[in-house]
Amino acid sequence: MKISVIGAGNVGATCANVIAQGNYASEVVLLDIKEGVSEGKSLDMWETAPILSYSTKCTGVTNDYSATAGSAITVITSGIPRKPGMSRDDLIGTNAKIVKSVTENVIKHSPDTIIIVVANPLDVMSYCAFLTSQSPRTKVMGMAGILDTARYRAFLATEIGVSPRDISAVLMGGHGDTMVPLPRYTNVAGIPITELVSAERLEAIVQRTKKGGGEIVKLMGTSAWYAPGAAAAQMCETIVKNERRIFPCCTWLDGEYGLKDIFLGVPVILGSNGIEKILELELTDDEMALLHGSAEAVRGVMGILDDMKLFA
Ligand code: NAI
Ligand code: 2OP
Repeated sequence: MKISVIGAGNVGATCANVIAQGNYASEVVLLDIKEGVSEGKSLDMWETAPILSYSTKCTGVTNDYSATAGSAITVITSGIPRKPGMSRDDLIGTNAKIVKSVTENVIKHSPDTIIIVVANPLDVMSYCAFLTSQSPRTKVMGMAGILDTARYRAFLATEIGVSPRDISAVLMGGHGDTMVPLPRYTNVAGIPITELVSAERLEAIVQRTKKGGGEIVKLMGTSAWYAPGAAAAQMCETIVKNERRIFPCCTWLDGEYGLKDIFLGVPVILGSNGIEKILELELTDDEMALLHGSAEAVRGVMGILDDMKLFA
């Protein structure tokens, strides 16, 4: 099964590398507009194969979409990342044009591909790929929830002094500061989080999670890539293996949670058809209000996309 990753920058190259090492795809194709970068990184990955013992064919190309033909999955990371002081939403003017033109090329060569969008602003770039591809909603999704939940789980693991593997959590909403971590759906090896962490510390961790992307931008001057790349690769693995794992993914809502015509993060079952099922949890009034507040923030950014008239 072939997987293509568009954009061979920090996130794209990391994602392709994790996919290659996972040894579940027959080929991973890396594509960028920068001459030689994808070719170089893919060659480097292929030269790692004898050391780490994987067989995934690694192909790198400069803007040649024929190499992506027949991809089962395409990950779109092409787009500029934010710099200190910028929000994810500041990227839309540049990234919407990139995501639209990339999606047109992707679909031309792989009409049935499942698209996983990573470029920011995530929820609206997923919408942009959905509008461009005209694919069913099960086949176009965004990666954010796995990353945001991973940050939440990592912070909790540090707080309690346990393995992050044992922390299970649900986080919903848009990929921005309005995201909604849900302590009521957070447990450590089955133990409710409230039995292990005080309400005050839990609230501090929820707040840190919401600003987790910005914390890294402040430290490095650009956004994260290890966790984002691994998160997108985890979605690919689940789809390729038809594992039907439950992850928060950015998906097109059609009435679920009282929300319609919007891409937003909610828990889904991921499998070989893409979004196999959207899970509707019984949220409290307060949780529902936070989710709808996050949806309003995303709708504001959708308005900026509409004003660009790319789809007029
Ligand atoms: P980067 O600058 O390292 O890589 C972006 C790559 O895209 C560059 O190599 C660039 O040449 C390429 N590119 C630009 N236009 C292209 C086109 N038309 N066709 C093919 N390639 C093109 O940036 P990085 O750090 O990899 O981030 C990529 C995007 O992912 C950003 O928008 C960033 O905000 C977003 N991101 C999203 C996350 C999420 O949770 N959804 C997490 C981390 C980053
Ligand atoms: C992140 O959350 C910037 O969306 C990117 O790291």
